[in-house]
Amino acid sequence: MPRLTIDGREIEAKAGQTVMEAATEHGIFIPYFCWHPKLSVPGNCRICVVGVAEKDGGEWVEIACNMPVSEGMVVFTNSEKVRARRKATMQFITLNHPVDCGICDKAGECTLQDYHYEYNGERSVSVDAKVHATKHYALSNRIVLDNERCIQCTRCVRFTREISKSNGLGLVNRADHSLVRAAEDGSFANDAYSDNVIDICPVGALLSRSFLHKARVWYLEPTASVCPGCSRGCTVNLWHRRPEWRLKAPGMQAANASVDRVTPLENPAVNGPWICNKGRDLPKLLGRARAEVAMLKGKPADLPGAIAQARSLVAAARRPVAIVSSWGSNEELAAFKAAFGTRLEAFVKADHLPEPGEVVEDSLLIRADKNPNTAGATALFGDRAPAIPKDADLVLVWGEGLDFGLIPPAAKIVYLNAWLQPENGHADVFIPTSIQTERDGHYTNFAGVTSAFSKCFAKPAGVADAETLFPALAAAGGGAP
Ligand code: SF4
Ligand code: SF4
Ligand code: FES
Repeated sequence: MPRLTIDGREIEAKAGQTVMEAATEHGIFIPYFCWHPKLSVPGNCRICVVGVAEKDGGEWVEIACNMPVSEGMVVFTNSEKVRARRKATMQFITLNHPVDCGICDKAGECTLQDYHYEYNGERSVSVDAKVHATKHYALSNRIVLDNERCIQCTRCVRFTREISKSNGLGLVNRADHSLVRAAEDGSFANDAYSDNVIDICPVGALLSRSFLHKARVWYLEPTASVCPGCSRGCTVNLWHRRPEWRLKAPGMQAANASVDRVTPLENPAVNGPWICNKGRDLPKLLGRARAEVAMLKGKPADLPGAIAQARSLVAAARRPVAIVSSWGSNEELAAFKAAFGTRLEAFVKADHLPEPGEVVEDSLLIRADKNPNTAGATALFGDRAPAIPKDADLVLVWGEGLDFGLIPPAAKIVYLNAWLQPENGHADVFIPTSIQTERDGHYTNFAGVTSAFSKCFAKPAGVADAETLFPALAAAGGGAP
């Protein structure tokens, strides 16, 4: 294990590590644009220069991201020579970069902006006009590119070659005429992981079309959550309005309780630093029309009345069956089990199946099971496919996805669902339930890893939480949740 000294601190590196890796692992910061811990090292931006002491007392300057550690090495990350070189590099990188931070979605999260203030902070020394390039160039129907902002770090290109393997992006032309472009075969448009390039672009060159100019990032705050899009259960941040930046204009209230964007929440045990595009599109999935009113045979009812009616149907049933949701949290599933025990014969169903056109499964993250908690549900209720006995006289259906045609015609139906769907009105009792953004909980993914999600919005009035609803449905004389 080579030992080296960085800024006077002796550290032990792993054999084969670069100075950048060893420094990062020991909490010593060296700036970088093109380096990314999960990508190959092109060494093209030169911002990561560090000084290395020479035997004669001199100091040579080299990039940290491509320099292997060696025994006895003495490294400086902040010497006069290093500061001068970094400043010159920043002058060079910003030579043709437009000063449009005021209208750039990356402002507030931009490495170039931060490094400019940290390592340069002065006006451009160039007397030449900036080279112009294409702005608002559509790379795909999801991503727009501003070539003037691009610093040619090639992170996006390497991502499509090394991680998503679509080979969807490349650089064309040379020098200050270099442009990132999508391959002509459409592979970038079909790359199920393409939106990760938005996160890893160190500047505001690659932007999400669905989030474009929607909010300054400092208007938003993240809530840790789990993508329910498949049984991988990627951990994500759901970004939504901070209370102090709530919109007050008429008609804008819904925007205060909606997810504006989704980004990966790095998790080595599940998804690393990536998510697929389906995870980015969660605002659409979570923003579907909600069911907010309980019903008795399709007629609106108040929540306590609907719960009382459901409770008496369950109590009176001789052969009750439950179809359990694979979108229920571990807490809700446990509450169901504790409330009903073996009183109901339970089967776990897939609430969601693959949609036409979506990638069903691949070797990176995407799983064929499009439900987040099949593992948690089947651990408690077994993995038999739903088979409703013909003599079932009550079927309690929890969540989406069951074909109501499979329910014996004479059986009573108690239905719990969060969304506005035609089946709701066909149930004897319909009870609207909360969704993932309105409660805390955990899902267990296909590999047995359990991840937490947290509440970011209040549930609508008239909607029940399944975790407290189940004891109320099972208990004689139980109250409303
Ligand atoms: S678009 Fe962004 S990630 Fe891609 S090369 Fe340019 S600066 Fe780098
Ligand atoms: S791989 Fe699955 S869990 Fe991860 S972001 Fe995509 S759909 Fe969501
Ligand atoms: S981070 Fe080392 S050269 Fe770019």
